Amino acid sequence: MEDLSGIVDELRETLNSCNSLQELNEIRARFLGKKGKITSLMKRISSLPPQERPAFGKRVNELKATAESLIQQAQQRVNKLEAERKLLERAVDPTFPGPKRPVGSEHPSLKVIREILEALVSMGFEVVEGPEVETVYYNFEALNTPAWHPSRDMQDTFYVRGEELLLRSHTSPVQVRVMEKRTPPIMVVSPGRVYRRDYDATHLPMFHQIEGLYVDRHVSVAHLKWTLMELASRVFGEKKRIRMRPSFFPFTEPSFEVDVWFEGKGWFEILGSGMVHPNVLKNVGCDPEEWSGFAFGLGPDRVAMIRYGIGDIRSLVRNESSIYQVTKHL
Ligand code: PHE
Repeated sequence: MEDLSGIVDELRETLNSCNSLQELNEIRARFLGKKGKITSLMKRISSLPPQERPAFGKRVNELKATAESLIQQAQQRVNKLEAERKLLERAVDPTFPGPKRPVGSEHPSLKVIREILEALVSMGFEVVEGPEVETVYYNFEALNTPAWHPSRDMQDTFYVRGEELLLRSHTSPVQVRVMEKRTPPIMVVSPGRVYRRDYDATHLPMFHQIEGLYVDRHVSVAHLKWTLMELASRVFGEKKRIRMRPSFFPFTEPSFEVDVWFEGKGWFEILGSGMVHPNVLKNVGCDPEEWSGFAFGLGPDRVAMIRYGIGDIRSLVRNESSIYQVTKHL
């Protein structure tokens, strides 16, 4: 009889520390299952002397009933616990930081600009910037491009306040601004936005340029060529082939257009360049007999298009997914 009340105590204790359905099922099996403690007591009834059977049987039945009701109570408590747990799993904590949106990737043009600037800075160039709203003087006149000059038509741009101010049509005015302020040696690079009245598959009304300028004693075309070869190799990979073609700009003499060779694609023009024209040097108070320099103006948007296989330049100013689509099928 002793161990019968012991079983109830044991059951109470285990049920008290039970917090999940799984544990409860295990406890039920341990006491009431086929090989459970109470079940085995029931089985013992038949092995007892006949006179002891009724009393023992009654005790065991009571025990079983007590056990069942205790487990039943525990079941209710555990059901509640499980329900609360489920609710907590799905709960919204308004103080919790929201999900982070991925930052996205760098714009192809800006990535090319950054890489080119990094290469030029490591070669000794200093990054400077000029205004996007320019005067006619800096954008044209000081660059040896008088009003009657036909290349003003080529760089037709947006005028502000009559004919006085304009959105710069190239970054070359920064050459003049820098040379006015400093005395050589000058070694600067100037990235930025430029504007022209164009809009089709190969032209945007706003695009980017990177201007390079080196003024010193005895600067020659050889320095220009070396700098461009070195730049192409650093930006496009080892020993990149470049080609210099004679060209014309009012503010350089001689002038060159420069192409880069892309295997399987051909030559691509990426910049205009030349030796700073003596008239430009004179305009900023530099003696062309003493100083000489080279300058170049590079189009990073075109470089990005070649590099990433972007067919239509307008993709660069559309949304993210249109660039992705164009890039993907090439
Ligand atoms: N500014 C010229 C252009 O926009 C490029 C250039 C820059 C040419 C410097 C020579 C020297 O086409």
